[in-house]
Amino acid sequence: MRKKHGGNIYKVAREKGVKAESLIDFSANINPLGYSTRFKKSFASIDNIILNYPDQDAGELIGALAEYHGLAEENFLTGNGSTEFIYLLPGIIRPKSVLIVAPAFTEYEQSYQRAKGVVFYFSTKEKDNFAVHAKDLLDELKRGYSALYICNPVNPTGVLTSKDTLQEVFTFAQKKGTNVILDETFIDFHEDQSLKAGVKNYDNLYVLRSMTKFFGLPGIRAGYMISHPKNIEKIREKQEPWSTNALAQRAGVESLRDASYIQKTIQYIKEARKAFLAELKKLPHLTIFPTQTNFMLLKLKDSAPLNAHELYEKLLEKSIIIRTCEDFQGLNDRFFRIAVKKKNENKKLASELKKILS
Ligand SMILES: Cc1ncc(COP(=O)(O)O)c(C=O)c1O
Repeated sequence: MRKKHGGNIYKVAREKGVKAESLIDFSANINPLGYSTRFKKSFASIDNIILNYPDQDAGELIGALAEYHGLAEENFLTGNGSTEFIYLLPGIIRPKSVLIVAPAFTEYEQSYQRAKGVVFYFSTKEKDNFAVHAKDLLDELKRGYSALYICNPVNPTGVLTSKDTLQEVFTFAQKKGTNVILDETFIDFHEDQSLKAGVKNYDNLYVLRSMTKFFGLPGIRAGYMISHPKNIEKIREKQEPWSTNALAQRAGVESLRDASYIQKTIQYIKEARKAFLAELKKLPHLTIFPTQTNFMLLKLKDSAPLNAHELYEKLLEKSIIIRTCEDFQGLNDRFFRIAVKKKNENKKLASELKKILS
C-alpha cells in the first residue's frame, strides 16, 4: 500500500469536489514565500529548457551545489527529488539490518518493503520531546546494524540534533562499519549544523538533500545526494537517464544563487513561527513540541474533545488541511503536524483551532 503523505491537495480536492487552489495546505512544509524570483525570471528562456534534452550530468547544477556547499563536484549527484535516492539506496547498500531513528519520514521503511525482517526502530520518547540521546543510540548501534537512518531536523517532530551529537554517532557508526543515511531535507534553516563535510573523508555517509521544502519547488522534483565519490559513482550507475529534468536543473541553479531569497526565507520562517507559536500556546488541550524548522508537531491532550482525524475533518470543512500522524512509528491518533505558512494563513488556522478547541 502506498504510504500517506502531506501535500496531497489534488486527492483531497477530488474527494471534496472543490478546486485544489481553494485549499490552505498545512500538511506540506513548503516555503510560504514561494520559489525564487531569480528562477521565475529564467522562464523568459523556457523554450530552450523544453526543446532540448536535459543535461544528463546536470553539470551547471552540480557546479552550483559544489560552490554553495564548499565541497567538490564529485561529492554530488542530483535526482528526481531526494525520494529517488531513498529508493535507490537499499539496492546499493543491500543491508542485512537497518535501524531507523523514529518517528521518521515513512519512506525509509517503505523502501525496504520487500526485505522482511530488515527494519528496526530506535524510538525517541515523547517525555523527552523526541530528542535524540546519543548515549542510548550508541548503545543500540553496538548490536551492529548495516545502516542507520536518521533525519535532521526530524520530520515529523521538528527536533534538530546538534552537529556535535551527530558527529559522535557518526564516528561510532564508522567504527562499527554501519552506513549512515542522514536525511538533511530540512537542514537549510541551520546549514551550520549540517554533517555534509564528513563525506570528504568517509565513505559510509550518505547525506540526502532536497530542494522541495526550503526552496519551494515540490512540483519540480529536485533533490540531491552528498556522499563520497565512490558512492556517487555506484548510485549514478543505477539511476535512470535524465532523472533530473531540465526545469529542475534551472530551478536548482537559480535558487541556490538567490542569496537574498535564502536570507529572506530564514528570517520569515523565524518570525512567522514565533508569532504562530504565541497564538497556538493560548489554546487549550494542545501540547506543542519544540521545533527548529518550518513545521511543528502537536498533540491533542486526553482532555481534548476530539482526536486528530476528527480535527482534520473539522478543519477540512474550512478548506484547511493538516497532517494527521497515526502512521508514523511511535505516534498515534492524537498527534498532528502543521507547516509554518504565510502569517495570515497561520492566523486563520490558529483562529479555527480556537473555535474547535475552546
Ligand atoms: C524528511 C524528508 N525526506 C525526504 C523527503 C522527500 O523530498 P523530495 O520532495 O525531495 O523527494 C521528504 C518529503 O516530505 C521529507 O519530509
